[in-house]
Amino acid sequence: MRCGRCVRVCPSQIFAREEPGGAIVLHKPENCIVCGHCVAACPAGAIDHECFPPERVHAFDRQALPSPEQLELLLAARRSNRALSQRPVPQEWLDRIVAAADRAPTASNARELGYTLVIDPSLLRQVSEYTLGVFRRLERMLTHPLVRPWLKPLLPRVYRYVPVFVRLRRDYAEGRDRILRGATALLFIHAPKDNRFAAEDANLACQNAALMAESLGVSQIYMGFVLTAVREDRHKRLNRMLGLEERRICAILALGMPEFHYPNYIDRTPAGVRRL
Ligand SMILES: Cc1cc2nc3c(=O)[nH]c(=O)nc-3n(C[C@H](O)[C@H](O)[C@H](O)COP(=O)(O)O)c2cc1C
Repeated sequence: MRCGRCVRVCPSQIFAREEPGGAIVLHKPENCIVCGHCVAACPAGAIDHECFPPERVHAFDRQALPSPEQLELLLAARRSNRALSQRPVPQEWLDRIVAAADRAPTASNARELGYTLVIDPSLLRQVSEYTLGVFRRLERMLTHPLVRPWLKPLLPRVYRYVPVFVRLRRDYAEGRDRILRGATALLFIHAPKDNRFAAEDANLACQNAALMAESLGVSQIYMGFVLTAVREDRHKRLNRMLGLEERRICAILALGMPEFHYPNYIDRTPAGVRRL
């Protein structure tokens, strides 16, 4: 057809047309980042890409996409519902949640993210206890009589967490896990340590997972406390527990079946937008 769509969409300029309306030629195909744009954009199935054989290319109808109103409703309905039941999330749904995460874009289409799903109850407990252990050590350091007087004025925001750490520990001792909140699954999203866009890639994937979870009726909560513990722990003990010594854990999502669904969504105070 010589429509030239591949020339326009390829991010690596592999498709080239030497003269207007002329044949399309390949230039340095070894630079391909395997993003699949050429195959996805081609209306004629003319591109034979070894990574995208016909069974991996799907024609679809844009009318079948969620409407803007449906998407807005999903975004408004997604909440971090912490009222979790003990019912496990069906494995098939966990797989769909991970598959949704894995559809997120990654910088340069590097696709270096890895996913670790933890559902073993004793390992889940160990994650909570690990987090509380790191917080305990942090608390001891921050409240040390030789440290507090000079560090507190420098880091007032950090010191606001000291009573939080104390409360989390007390609650856990009394049987209330405010870290995992009774989640029956944890999704760890990790990347190689030298990936410069690891955090961005992981958080985009995490949000895909969260939206899929919401649409399946699965509750999801971003695990900021656990992530803080991972970052503050010089010995990276959680990485070792999970067999992730060579990886950086960049996002963690707790998943569980909710006791109930919210009947309402709320309007938040809109963020200011500057239009320049
Ligand atoms: C980076 C990040 C870290 C978070 N960490 C935690 C956490 O450790 N525990 C928790 O219960 N909620 C955590 N949350 C959930 C937020 O508190 C929640 O998203 C926020 O209150 C808005 O509520 P919503 O998610 O229901 O819209 C975290 C959210 C983000 C984005």
